This record gives sequence, structure tokens and C-alpha cells, in this order.
Amino acid sequence: MSHVRSAARVSGFGTSIFAEISALAAQCGAVNLGQGFPDFAGPDWVKQAAAEAVAADLNQYAPYQGLPRLREAVAATWRAQGWRELDPAREVTVTTGATEALFAAMQALLNPGDEAIVFEPFYDAYVPDITMAGGVPRYVRLQPPGPGLPAWHFDPEELRAAFTPRTRLLLLNTPHNPTGKVFTRGELALIAALCTEHDVLVVSDEVYDQLVFEDAVHVPIATLPGMWARTLTINSTGKTFSVTGWKIGYAVGPAPLNDALRAAHQWVTFATATPLQAAAAAALEGALANGYYAQFRAEYAGRYRLLRAILAGAGLPTFATEGSYFVMADISRTGFTSDADFCRWLTREVGVAAIPPSAFYAEPATAPLLARFCFAKRTETLQAAAERLARLKS
Ligand SMILES: Cc1ncc(COP(=O)(O)O)c(C=O)c1O
Repeated sequence: MSHVRSAARVSGFGTSIFAEISALAAQCGAVNLGQGFPDFAGPDWVKQAAAEAVAADLNQYAPYQGLPRLREAVAATWRAQGWRELDPAREVTVTTGATEALFAAMQALLNPGDEAIVFEPFYDAYVPDITMAGGVPRYVRLQPPGPGLPAWHFDPEELRAAFTPRTRLLLLNTPHNPTGKVFTRGELALIAALCTEHDVLVVSDEVYDQLVFEDAVHVPIATLPGMWARTLTINSTGKTFSVTGWKIGYAVGPAPLNDALRAAHQWVTFATATPLQAAAAAALEGALANGYYAQFRAEYAGRYRLLRAILAGAGLPTFATEGSYFVMADISRTGFTSDADFCRWLTREVGVAAIPPSAFYAEPATAPLLARFCFAKRTETLQAAAERLARLKS
């Protein structure tokens, strides 16, 4: 008999569907379009910067706030986009990926019993982050596109009703995983007005900020009038430079919010890998100088069009992705009544792995019937998936 009894805060977590699908994909030799990371390398000049930083002996602890050069590069990035002039000393903190920034932010800002509003479906870490801090999640549904409504959307009244005297913060994600939604300026203005009215903070996860397509424009909610003082914006260099394993993230916000975050961060990881911070700084600096972002978006737009066409050809219609590297396919006409069963079947029998979005809902049974495919993949990977998916037609 085991003597190990986990604490209540983690005992319900279990293993995720992501781990299950990935294991199944490996076992069946499936083309994995489930996992949300690139199967191609980051740019050579970015990798070279990391090798040079190690060789230059930038190998001891970094300052806990992050390397000054990286914080300055974040400030330069915000300046170049016309977002805001930042004080890198007090308004930027480097974290171990966006994941740590989110965890530390919830630890820093929520007291037990405080409510946090999240849009559902939600990136899977949000709810554990909230509950581990003793907070209580309140959900607002994003509804899929429908007749006359081309984009994912939410009911303003449902959002309004989610605010209570206990609401402490709203956790936003734009561009949004898994739906590919980019919140419009109008939607952000409504969220901002409600947060101001109820004196609620915003933690905004914007890790896909450089991955927007077609007419979509990414607007950081922190740039809306009055919002800087109540917003912590979280980002990561992993997605933007195709180096998700580096786990170099950062948070931007007014000094009091950074101070709170830093208070938690110093006892979570203290500092983040020094040479990779130096390389992330080189990446941000280089991208501003060499036109990287436009090329990055153009390459992803091509992958997006290709995967969308492949899925359409296989009889799986998709919703438009405005941002992120995911596309949602409608599986309601496949005969399956559970997205998890469909994804298991697709992985095992067709040889293509996808993620069931019900994993991103508090009550999975109430999720719409969709499957999430990732297009951060080489053309050859997408073509291999196409060959297998062609079988679906028959
Ligand atoms: C919306 C969102 N936030 C945060 C993360 C995690 O970022 P990082 O790898 O920098 O911890 C991911 C990764 O998939 C994500 O999709």
C-alpha cells in the first residue's frame, strides 16, 4: 500500500488527454498534429546566439528579474510596435516560459476564494493555476462561428453576469488557443470597461501575438485607455522563434503588478536559464532589424492554408483561424458523439493525431464537436497527414 497521499490541490489533476494522445500517436506511428509545437528548427541566427552565450560563459544565475539586455529588448519590441514606452528596470520580468509567468501571477494576485474569469474553451494551465492559488474560476463561453456570425464570439450579458463582488481578475488569451480567435478592439473595450467598473485586474496571455492572419490585428488590452495600470501582459519567445523548449517567457505591466509577480517568481524558479535569456534578447533585437516577423507570419499563413485545404479535402470543414497555430475542424458529421473518441480513432485508425477540445472545457460533455489540429509543422509533415486523411473520404 502506498504511503504517498498527494495534497488536495493536485489530487484531481490526473494525466491529460494530451499525454494520452501523444503516447497513442507514438505507439501507432501517427502523424502528430495534436502537439502544439513546431516540428522544425528555429532560425540559425537564434540558435547561434545561444551557442555563443554558453561559450561566452554566461552560465551562472541571472538576476531574478531577468537579464537587463532581454528586458531592454522587450521594451524595444513594445516601442517598435507603437504599444508603449516601457521602463525595463521595473515594468518587465523574465520568467521560465509563459507557463511560469501565469502560475506566479495567480500566486501573486489571488487570495483564497477570489474569483477569476476565464473564457471557455481555455488553455489548459489556467484552471490549475487559479485553483492552486486558492482561486475560483468563473467561465464565460466563446461560441463557435454560426450563421451571420463569422468569428468565435461571446455574449456580452454572460460576461457582465460573470462579475461578482469576489472577482479579482480576468484571464484573457488573445490570439486564442484553441479557437484561433483574435479578440477585436470592440470586444477588448467591453472587457476593459467591465474590469474598470468592477476594479478587476487583467492577466493577458499573448504568446501568439506575432501569429495573426488575414485581416486580424492583435491589440494588447494593456494599450486600451486606462488599462495599463490594471494589466499584466504575458508573452514567450518559444512560439515566436520556434524554440519552445527554451522556456523564456516574460511579463509586462506597471511596477506594482511586476513587484507582486516578482515576489512570487523569486520563490518559484528565482531565475531563468542565463544563456537562453541572452539568446532570446538577440532574437528580439534581430527580429526588429531583419524583417523576421513578416517572414514568420507569411510562412505560417502558407502552412495554415495548406492544412485547411487538406482538412476540407478530407471532408472536415474548419473555422477560420485569425491567430495562433491551431485550426478547429467541425467533426459533427463524422458520426462520432465524442471528440475524444474521434481523436483516438483518428490517431489509431487513420494515423493522424489531433486534440479533442473538450479538454479545454470545465464540463467536457458540453463542448461542441470539434477537433484541434496544429499547423506548426513542416510541409512534408502536413503532406503525410494529407495522404492519410484522404482515406477519410471513403
Ligand atoms: C495560450 C498559451 N499560453 C501559454 C503557453 C505556454 O508557453 P511557454 O511554453 O512559454 O510556457 C502556451 C503553449 O502552448 C499556450 O498555448
